[in-house]
Amino acid sequence: MTIIDGKKVSALVKEQVAEETKLLKAKGIIPGLAVILVGDDPASRVYVNNKKKACEEVGFKSEEFKLPADTTQEELLNLVYELNDRNDINGILCQLPLPKGLDENAVIEAISPLKDVDAFHKQNVGRIMIGDYDFLPCTPAGIMEMLHSYDIDVDGKNCVVIGRSNIVGKPMGMLLLHENGTVTICHSHTKNLKEITSKADILVAAIGVAKFVKSDMIKDGAVVIDVGMNRDENGKLCGDVDFEEVKDKCSFITPVPGGVGPMTIATLMKNTLKAAKLQNNA
Ligand code: GUN
Repeated sequence: MTIIDGKKVSALVKEQVAEETKLLKAKGIIPGLAVILVGDDPASRVYVNNKKKACEEVGFKSEEFKLPADTTQEELLNLVYELNDRNDINGILCQLPLPKGLDENAVIEAISPLKDVDAFHKQNVGRIMIGDYDFLPCTPAGIMEMLHSYDIDVDGKNCVVIGRSNIVGKPMGMLLLHENGTVTICHSHTKNLKEITSKADILVAAIGVAKFVKSDMIKDGAVVIDVGMNRDENGKLCGDVDFEEVKDKCSFITPVPGGVGPMTIATLMKNTLKAAKLQNNA
C-alpha cells in the first residue's frame, strides 16, 4: 500500500508555477488573485488563508476582500464587477459556501469567465464537458494530477465517485471519463452503494461525512481518493474514508490532511498563472 503524498506533489506543481511566474515578472506581468470571503465560516477562513499563503509562495499578488455575513447580493455583485474590470487582477475566487440569503449561482455567473479560476462559471463548465477548456476545477484536476504523478492509469478502469456536487463530484466524473475511465457517480439516492463501490478500481469519496467509507465497501487493491475534510468525534481532522480501517486493503490511498487539499490549492495557482498569461497574451 502506498500513501499518496499530496504535499509533495503539490510542492512540485507550485515550484513549476513559481518558475513560470519569474519569467512573467521579467516581462512586467505579476499574476494577481482576488479572494472574496463573506461571513465567518471558520473552515472557509482556513482555506482562504492557505490560498493566500500559496500565492505568496509562487510569487503572485493576492488581495483579500473580507465582507460581513450581512452583505447584500448587490454589494457582492458590485465587488465582482469591479474586480472583473481591474487589469491587475487575473483571477477571482469567491469562497463557497456563501451565508444564507446570498445567491451563489448569481455570483458565479457574474465572475468573468476569463477570470474564473475555480472553473465554476457555466461557460467554463460547458467547455469542460466538450473537452475544450482553459481552466479545470481545482479539486478534480488536482486529483488527476496526483494520479498521473503516481502513474495510476485511468483508461478502462472502473471509477466510482461518491458525491455529485458541482464543485467535486460532477466534474470529477467528467475528468475520469476524459481519460477513458468507466465512470459511476453515486449519491444519497443510490441503491446498493456497497455493491457499486466494491467494484471500483478507483474510488473517489466526496460525501462530506466523516469516515463514511469502510473496508467492506472497497475492492482489494483499489485506489482510494479522499476529498473529505471533517472533524471526528474527538475534533480531529479526518476524511470521508475510515483511513485506518481501509488502508491495508488499498493499493494507493490519500491521507487527510496532506492528500487532496494541497492539490486543490496547487491547481488554483496553475489556473491563476494561466489566466494571467491568457489575459496578457504572454
Ligand atoms: N468551497 C469548497 N471548495 C471550494 C473551491 O474549490 N473553491 C471555492 N471558491 N469555494 C470552495
